[in-house]
Amino acid sequence: MLPSGTSLAHLMTKAIDRNTESVLELGPGTGVFTEALVKRGLVPEQLTLVELDERFAYLLTRRFPGARIVQGSAARLSGAGIGSDVAYGAVISGLPLLSMPSRTVFRIVEGVARRLGPSGNLYQFTYGARCPVAHAILERLGLEAHLLGTVIWNLPPASVYRISRTRVDPKVTSASEPHVTSDAHTALIHKQNPTVMCWEGERVSRQ
Ligand SMILES: C[S@@+](CC[C@H](N)C(=O)[O-])C[C@H]1O[C@@H](n2cnc3c(N)ncnc32)[C@H](O)[C@@H]1O
Repeated sequence: MLPSGTSLAHLMTKAIDRNTESVLELGPGTGVFTEALVKRGLVPEQLTLVELDERFAYLLTRRFPGARIVQGSAARLSGAGIGSDVAYGAVISGLPLLSMPSRTVFRIVEGVARRLGPSGNLYQFTYGARCPVAHAILERLGLEAHLLGTVIWNLPPASVYRISRTRVDPKVTSASEPHVTSDAHTALIHKQNPTVMCWEGERVSRQ
């Protein structure tokens, strides 16, 4: 899959600026959206990047020194300590949600909902014809999706959804965190580069 184009990066990031104190990016790949955020005035220290692929995670440490880079699955946000101390002003996601089982999508979006600040939004793009987060999942988590636009000249054409809270849902507030266990796979270990962490026990596939 080709990296996203600059028009899609613009649509994904245009509502975010340096006043958005902390931004979480899921599936940054080579960092197309990350670069757009930096061009919008954010400094790497405002960014947490969660990337499954070890090579991309390493590349991101070279491109964005100072950013907090986590090598691991975004599906583990809920149980891991990452970002639990931060209420993110925005989450941007390049994750291929359409190719994931709905249970995984639920875990990812639930983890995001726990970490979004009160007025924070999740920005998710898709190559599909509708929001890649099923209505049932959005409803369960007290979220709603709004189509921001479609970039037809992206290869392939892509749409961006803004996902935000419809109500305060006790199931996704920090008050319900105690049921999350701190088992081995949620522990964090530092790898060679101190800004790169991965969840212990994470299996990283090399392609
Ligand atoms: C379609 S690419 C998007 C890359 C980049 N954001 C862009 O738009 O060009 C999807 C990215 O998500 C990463 N990814 C896939 N599953 C993931 C997961 N469960 N957790 C974190 N990253 C994941 C892939 O390694 C890849 O870098």
